Amino acid sequence: MGWLGTLTMAGLGLLSTLFVFAFGLVVLAIIVMFVIDVSQTHDAVRRNYPVIGRFRYLFSTLGEFFRQYFFAMDREEMPFNRAERDWVYKSASGADNTIAFGSTKNLNAVETVIFVNCPFPTLDEHALPTPPVIFGPGADQPYEAHSIINVSGMSFGALSKPAVRALSKGAKLAGCWLNTGEGGLAPWHLEGGADVVFQMGTAKYGVRDDNGGLDEAKLRELAAHPEVKMLELKMSQGAKPGKGGILPAEKVTEEIAGIRGIEAYKASISPNRHPEIDNVSQLLDMIDRMRDVSGLPTGFKTVVGAYGWLDEMAEEIHRRGLAHAPDFITVDSGDGGTGAAPMPLMDNVGLPIREALPMVTDVLTRYGLRDRVKLVASGKLITPADVAWAYCAGADVVVSARGFMFALGCIQSLKCNKNTCPTGITTHDRRLQRGLDPEDKAVRVKNFVDKIRYGVGIIAHSCGVPHPRALKRYHCRIVLETGRSTPLDDVYPVPEVMERYREGGRADEMPAPRVHGSSVA
Ligand SMILES: Cc1cc2nc3c(=O)[nH]c(=O)nc-3n(C[C@H](O)[C@H](O)[C@H](O)COP(=O)(O)O)c2cc1C
Repeated sequence: MGWLGTLTMAGLGLLSTLFVFAFGLVVLAIIVMFVIDVSQTHDAVRRNYPVIGRFRYLFSTLGEFFRQYFFAMDREEMPFNRAERDWVYKSASGADNTIAFGSTKNLNAVETVIFVNCPFPTLDEHALPTPPVIFGPGADQPYEAHSIINVSGMSFGALSKPAVRALSKGAKLAGCWLNTGEGGLAPWHLEGGADVVFQMGTAKYGVRDDNGGLDEAKLRELAAHPEVKMLELKMSQGAKPGKGGILPAEKVTEEIAGIRGIEAYKASISPNRHPEIDNVSQLLDMIDRMRDVSGLPTGFKTVVGAYGWLDEMAEEIHRRGLAHAPDFITVDSGDGGTGAAPMPLMDNVGLPIREALPMVTDVLTRYGLRDRVKLVASGKLITPADVAWAYCAGADVVVSARGFMFALGCIQSLKCNKNTCPTGITTHDRRLQRGLDPEDKAVRVKNFVDKIRYGVGIIAHSCGVPHPRALKRYHCRIVLETGRSTPLDDVYPVPEVMERYREGGRADEMPAPRVHGSSVA
C-alpha cells in the first residue's frame, strides 16, 4: 500500500470516528431531552410524549413560513391573501399585472363587492383627470390633495430608516402624501420632498411639553417645514382602539429616542388617550388649537365603535360655526394594521371600514357637513376594487399602510413587533436593512400608486363615470347571505340632509332617483 492508500485509510478511520462521535452526541442529546421532558411539569404534551412532543412546536413554527408557499390557496390567507399580495407585488415591480383564463375569486361569498358596469362605459377620450380635494378651505394654508391613494401613518420606529426614506422618495415620485405616524417628524420623512401629514399621537412625540401636553412652539416650528401640509390628531387606530402606540425596547434606537424625546432602549408606550380630550368639545378645542398654531388644515383619526358622539360632535360644530369643524376625519378599520397591539383589541374591537365608512359619511350628510369635513378611509384598501368601493361608500381620499409595505417588499411574515423583519421594513438591524434600497423601492412605491390609479380609473369608466371621485353608492352591489347581490345604497341608503342644515349639504350626496326598487346611475 502506497502513501495514498495509507492516507485514505487514515481519512476513513477519522470519518468513522467522527460519525460514531456525532451519533453518540445525538443519542446523548435525546437522552437529556427525554429526562428534561419527563421531569418538567409545565408542558403536558412533552411530558406525555417526551422528545417527540417537541416536533409539534418545530412544525408549527416552520408551518408559519411554509404555509404560504405550499399549502394556502390563493384566496385563503389573512390578513392579506396571496392573490392580493401578488397584485401589489406585480404592480410595484411595474410588470404586467393582467391575469389569464378567469377569476379565482368566489363571487358568491357574502360581502363580495360587484361594481355595476354601465352599458355605455366612459369612452377613453371622455375620461377626466381625477379632480383634487381641498382640505381646510378656511385654514391659513389650505391643502389641495391630488392623489386618490396616499401613505397612511406608520411611525419612524415601527418602520426602519430605509423604509421611511423609500416611502418619502416614492411618495414624491407618485405625487401622494406621506403620513408620519405617531413617532414624530424625522428628517427621513422630509428627505424625498413629498407632501407630509404630521400625526400627533397620544404621546405627542416631537411636540410634547414637560407635562405631556402640547408644546405650541414646537408644533409651530414643525409646521413651518414647507413639506408639512396637514396635521392629524390621532384619537385611535383600528388595530388597538383604546390603547396607545407600542414600540418594543429593542426598536427604540438612540436616533428614534432622540426624535421622540424619550430614553433609548426602553419600550415606548403612548398613553391610551389624549388626557386633555375627554369629550367632543375638548376634541374640537384641540383641533382649533392645532390649526391656529400651525395655520394648517387639521383633522383627526379614529376607529368607530360607539357612534352617538358623531352626532354630538356635528351639533357642537354647528353651535360653534363651520370654521371650527375638523378639516377631515380619517376613519380607520377595526381590522387595520399595526406595528404591535394586543390580540383582543386587534381581533374584536372597532368596526371594520365596510360598516364604519358609510356610517360616518351618513352622519356628516345628515348634518350638512359632507362638504366641509373630508373623509379619509383606511383599512385593507390595497387593490383597485377595494379603493373603488371606498369611493362609492363616501371616501374623499384613501390611505393605505400595508399596501405600501407590500410595495416595499413586505412578505407578511408578521414580525413587525420584533426587530427581525426579514425584509428590513420594520427592523433596525443594519444587516436586515441591507436588502431595502430606498432608491429602488421608491420606484416600486410610485408604480403601485400608478397601478391603483389606473385600476380604479377603469372601474369608474366601466361604471360610466369620468373619474374615481364620481363613483357613488349605486355603482356598487354587495353579495348578501342569500347569494344574491343588492345595491350598496339599499344596504346603506343615502340620508337626506336635515332641514335645518340644508345649506351645507352636498347635491351629489342626495339619494339617486330610484326605478323598480333599484337605483339608476
Ligand atoms: C407597521 C405599522 C405601523 C403603524 N403605525 C401607526 C401610527 O404610528 N399611527 C397610526 O395612526 N396608525 C399606524 N398604523 C396603522 C395604519 O396607519 C393604518 O391605519 C392601518 O394599518 C390600516 O391600513 P392598512 O390596512 O392599509 O394597513 C400602523 C400600521 C402598521 C402596519
